[in-house]
Amino acid sequence: MAKFYVTTPIYYVNDRPHIGHFYTTLVADILARFHKKQGDDVFFLTGTDEHGAKVAQAAKQAGKTPKQLADEVAAEFRQEWDSFEIKPNRFIRTTDEDHIKFSQNFLTKLNEKGFLYKGSYEGLYCVACEAYYKPEELLPGNLDPVHRQPVERVKEAVWFFKLSQFQNQLIDLIGRGVFAIQPESRRNEVLSFIKGGLKDIPITRSKVEWGIPVPWENPASGGAGGQTFYVWIEALLNYLTGAEGKKIWPPDLQIIGKDILRFHAVIWPALLLAAELPLPKKLVVHGFFTINGEKMSKTMGNVITPRELIDRYGVEASRILLFLPFSFGEDGNFSFEFLDREYNSRLANDLGNLLQRSIVLFSKLSKPNFSVEVSCAEADVKLKEVDFKGALESIFRIVNEANQYIDREEPWKKYKTEGSDWLAEFTRSLANRLLTIASGIEPFAPKTAAAIRTQLKTLKPKPLFPKLI
Ligand code: MSP
Repeated sequence: MAKFYVTTPIYYVNDRPHIGHFYTTLVADILARFHKKQGDDVFFLTGTDEHGAKVAQAAKQAGKTPKQLADEVAAEFRQEWDSFEIKPNRFIRTTDEDHIKFSQNFLTKLNEKGFLYKGSYEGLYCVACEAYYKPEELLPGNLDPVHRQPVERVKEAVWFFKLSQFQNQLIDLIGRGVFAIQPESRRNEVLSFIKGGLKDIPITRSKVEWGIPVPWENPASGGAGGQTFYVWIEALLNYLTGAEGKKIWPPDLQIIGKDILRFHAVIWPALLLAAELPLPKKLVVHGFFTINGEKMSKTMGNVITPRELIDRYGVEASRILLFLPFSFGEDGNFSFEFLDREYNSRLANDLGNLLQRSIVLFSKLSKPNFSVEVSCAEADVKLKEVDFKGALESIFRIVNEANQYIDREEPWKKYKTEGSDWLAEFTRSLANRLLTIASGIEPFAPKTAAAIRTQLKTLKPKPLFPKLI
């Protein structure tokens, strides 16, 4: 049995879950379900990123302690995922005791191995991104390019990680595909960034109290009051904490949005190389949902929540609709008008009607004598390639062909003239197509797959996707 360890980014708790988070997490859930179906031993990790200045600021604004805010929002994420049929094996929080211990031990070891040193950092920091910027990367008015918020000038005595040492090793491992980055355009982007030269990076903060204490800075008090780890560094380590004691290292697939590529494709593998641990096998990078071409964010006030989606289309349809019309890897412009049309034409009409009319035919003409479920080979290949749109398209090709098959054969006429052998063959063929559709769609929409199978057995039609009015 092969193992399959899949991760999502862990989400900042300053924000409520939105469809961007939903999308990344769904991707992992769909792949986890798919690999489970293939017989793999699956471990799916997701969770929340709870430390740092940004969360502390949000808590202060809400009149709460950072831990109170984190408890609330982490619970919300967890509950949302559960109600959308997203079933991680572990929901990790960076305030979990094992993560704090693990991060402290890991970084202490890197220090002992000589990969860290104390120095002085002076530069620009964006709290909204929890990231350092060079002046030339900013928008006019010293605004960060992602949230368009003013950046801070910081000057602090901090610990650095010798990232620059890993430049050639990273170029080699990414270049040879030992550490694969998909799509190709993102791999090239990372390679040219690394070839441009890597600098050592700060991994601690001197004035951010809401973080994991640097143990060797103030050992008597466990580091409290002294430096804390830069939130990104310990956040990346969650993928290791989650795998502790499970014999699943390294991750087979890590899913991220394009905004956090450098952290995952440069800093993260370098930390692992320093610790002499195997690198993840593959990093897949998806695009962003935009609203009228604008990035969706709390700051922009244009956030769409997964709830809105589910209230409108239901869980099953939502799990399909985010992948059917949008290519993974590229940006997709989100609009309810567009998704309404997709829902009505492809889910309610094409797939929903196919099942409905098939069940009516079977109950009127003859119960199908179907064999074992045949998997949807083409969709399986596409899912292995992390091509969700491709997988769904091959399933919907079978849907369309099945609808055409009924139209062409006109069974309501032919059953009178062609005899029982013909009818048996027709119903068997149609039922098998429905079972193949059920198999293909199962990782996306497990209850839809189950409904197709049940209706084929009971011959009691029930609309899968009621038409939106
Ligand atoms: N906490 C960091 C990640 C640490 S991982 C060790 C973080 N969190 S986040 O909550 O801001 O965003 C996490 C991820 O959500 C993004 O990388 C991306 O995968 C997803 N998305 C956030 N906004 C999105 C869209 N508008 N569209 C699609 N996905 C987006 O970054």
